[in-house]
Amino acid sequence: MEVRHHFDLTGYNTFGIQATAEYFAEFSDVEALKELVAYSHDKNLMILGGGSNILITHDISGYVLHNRMVGISVVDETENHVYVCAEAGTVWHDLVKHCVNKGWGGIENLSLIPGTVGAAPIQNIGAYGAELKDSFFELEALHLSDLQIHRFDAKDCLLGYRDSIFKRAYKGKYVILNVTLRLAKNPVPNTSYHSLQKELAALRLLSITIKDVSETVIRIRRSKLPDPKQIGNAGSFFKNPVIEKDKFLFLLKGFPKMPHFDMGDKVKIPAAWLIEQLGFKGYRQGDAGCHVDQPLVLVNYGNATGQQILNLSESIIRKVKQSFDIALEREVNVV
Ligand code: FAD
Ligand code: EPU
Repeated sequence: MEVRHHFDLTGYNTFGIQATAEYFAEFSDVEALKELVAYSHDKNLMILGGGSNILITHDISGYVLHNRMVGISVVDETENHVYVCAEAGTVWHDLVKHCVNKGWGGIENLSLIPGTVGAAPIQNIGAYGAELKDSFFELEALHLSDLQIHRFDAKDCLLGYRDSIFKRAYKGKYVILNVTLRLAKNPVPNTSYHSLQKELAALRLLSITIKDVSETVIRIRRSKLPDPKQIGNAGSFFKNPVIEKDKFLFLLKGFPKMPHFDMGDKVKIPAAWLIEQLGFKGYRQGDAGCHVDQPLVLVNYGNATGQQILNLSESIIRKVKQSFDIALEREVNVV
């Protein structure tokens, strides 16, 4: 067990924020993790996956434990489904590629989402008409206080839009060790998302496979989202707000062109549109900014500090509240 002191985290967060961890260690199995947890006893402890959904605003005191537990295996099978278990440190897109290549359907719309399998349930990752919860079966997690392994099914996890129990009551209390998915052996591709449907239609395919969906999602994502290797970012910085119908109808009177998506008794408004209306698209203050094509993505052009990005996010939240009376919520975990 190697514990590093004052470890530089710049390469360990996709925002590329320069900060250090007081102590840093990696673990590749549960025993090593337990040992580290016991060793760190009363100190602050943070689990780090791919660092693609965090904003570091100061040097981190205590321990940062980097998850290196990898592996994918089939744990059960029925006539129509396969149950695939992946260790939490497995790169999410490696799991997607593996399943798409085997012809197992359910997570192809989630192609190319950065990060690790273990972080996927934390915010119930979603994209292009699918969410983790659609294929999720169960997970195992280590309780940090008693070092027991607990099993959570979909109901226990309270998976919602970019939300789960691990962002709420169990925040910081568990380390997710592995995730089991229930995937279809004879998948029916999900092409419900408008831009995906449009791109696929342009290909004029006779029939659409999950491989076509995966490749198309990858193409759309590469054309829309900034690559963190070129410009630091953590994807969408805010969630898309979901508002009451009455409030939506009231806003629509003042903003008849406001895009919106019906969610039953509520309405989802694209945060990107709200932010763009306020002139933030392409806005830059020092090295902190809103991306030129996708204002929902806050970016680090080089040497922004986490605090500067956080300040920019606070200005956006304030202005959106003033202009639309909508409270934007951050998606990214501020640490
Ligand atoms: P980290 O950033 O390392 O951690 C995130 C949080 O989870 C932290 O609080 C951390 O402590 C905790 N955590 C991590 N691993 C564990 C574990 N094993 N046990 C307990 N806690 C843990 N997200 C989407 O949903 N949809 C998208 O389309 C999407 N697109 C993105 C595009 C880009 C370019 C980027 C940079 C990000 C995007 N994201 C998207 C956000 C991000 O990829 C996901 O949230 C991803 O699941 C984060 O994984 P990670 O391993 O990097 O997590
Ligand atoms: N829009 C604008 N101006 C812009 C860009 C977009 O007004 O400059 C509006 C348009 O009306 C557009 C709408 O925003 O139709 C939605 O845009 P897009 O399809 O790009 O999706 P998004 O809402 O910005 C969400 C997720 C992404 C996910 C994509 C695809 C959230 C917070 N974000 O983005 O997830 O990949 O849909 O499903 O739900 C992430 O969570 O990090 C993430 C990238």
